[in-house]
Amino acid sequence: MIGDKKIVYSAVQPTGCITLGNYIGAIKNWIKLFEEYNGIFAIADLHALTVRQVPADYRQRAVSFFAQYLACGLDPEKCILYFQSHVHEHTELTWILNCFTYIGEAQRMTQFKDKSAKHADNVNMGLLDYPVLMASDILLYQTDYVPVGIDQKQHLELSRDLAIRFNNLYSPTFTVPEAYIPKQGAKVFSLQDPTKKMSKSDPDVNATVSLIDTPDDVMRKFKRAVTDCDGFVAYDEENKPGVSNLLTIYSAVSGKPIEDIVPMFEGKGYAELKTEVGDAVVETLRPIREKYTDFMKNKDYILSVAKNGAMQASGIARRTLSKVYRKVGLVEA
Ligand code: TYM
Repeated sequence: MIGDKKIVYSAVQPTGCITLGNYIGAIKNWIKLFEEYNGIFAIADLHALTVRQVPADYRQRAVSFFAQYLACGLDPEKCILYFQSHVHEHTELTWILNCFTYIGEAQRMTQFKDKSAKHADNVNMGLLDYPVLMASDILLYQTDYVPVGIDQKQHLELSRDLAIRFNNLYSPTFTVPEAYIPKQGAKVFSLQDPTKKMSKSDPDVNATVSLIDTPDDVMRKFKRAVTDCDGFVAYDEENKPGVSNLLTIYSAVSGKPIEDIVPMFEGKGYAELKTEVGDAVVETLRPIREKYTDFMKNKDYILSVAKNGAMQASGIARRTLSKVYRKVGLVEA
C-alpha cells in the first residue's frame, strides 16, 4: 500500500459471465480510481456459493474472471487482485460481525428477498449472511470508497451501519466506507427487458453482453435489442427504457454525454442507433477480448498474480482482524 492514499475496494462474484453492465457500472471506474487511490479487488468466490455451483465449472470460471479483470486493465503492479477464498480473514470477520447484525436487518435486504424468491428451494443461511460477508470484505481493508452499481447500495449501507455500530460500542476500529456510484451507467439494463438490470445470470443469452462475446454476437444482440414503437430517439427512462438504455451504454463506452448523443440521431431510426451502439461496444471490447485470450494461455501467470495478491491482502486484513479480536475480548494467540 502506498503512503496515505485512500483505499478503494470492490469485488465481483464469478457467476454467469462478466457483462457489459459490470464493466460500465464497476470495472471501468476502478481502472480510473486506482490511478489515484490504493485499489484492492477480489473475485468474490465465497459469495457465489450461496447458490449451487458445479465445482469444475466454478473453478474454471473463477480463473476466467481473473483473466478478464487483468484484460480490462487492472494492473497487479498498481493494485491488489486476489480470490476472496484465499484470504481467510474474510470469513473470520464475518463471524464477529454476524454477532453485531440483527436478523431483521439482514431480512430487509432487497437482494435477499429477490434471491429467496428466485431460489425458493434453497434459502440458505449464506444468502441471509451475504451482506455481512460483503461488509467484512470492505471493512477489513479500512476502505474509504466502494465503487459499485446502484444495486449494491443497500448492502453498502449495512456495511456502514455495522462499522459505525462497532466503532461506537468499542472505539474507532473501522473506516466508515462510502459508495462510489457512477452517475451514468450505474445501472445498465437487459437488452431484452429494459426494465430489468443486465444480469450475469440471465438465462436469455440475448439479454446480456459478455466481455468476451465475439463481435458478431455483440452486433446480433444489439440489433435484437428491445426498444419501443415510437420510432424516435430520446432519453426518457420511464417511457422509453430500451432506447434510454442504449443511449446510456453508448455514452458510457464513447465518453460522450447523452445530451450530445441524442441530436446525432435526429431524423434517424432505431436501426442506426443499434448499429452505432453495437459498433462502439465491439470496439471497446476488442482489445479486452484479445488480451483475455493471451492470459488464458498462461494460467500459471494468473495463479501467481492471485497468490501474490492474497499475500498482500492478508497482511492488511490480519491487522484489522487482530484489532477486532482484541477489542471484543478474545485472548491473544
Ligand atoms: P456482482 O458480482 O453482482 O456485480 C459486480 C458489480 O457490478 C455491478 N453491476 C452493475 N452495474 C451496473 N449495471 C448492471 N446491470 C450491473 N450489474 C452488476 C454491481 O453493482 C457490482 O458493483 N455483492 C457484490 C460483490 C461483492 C462486493 C464486495 C462488491 C462482494 N463483496 C465488496 C463491493 C465490495 C455483487 O453482488 O456484485
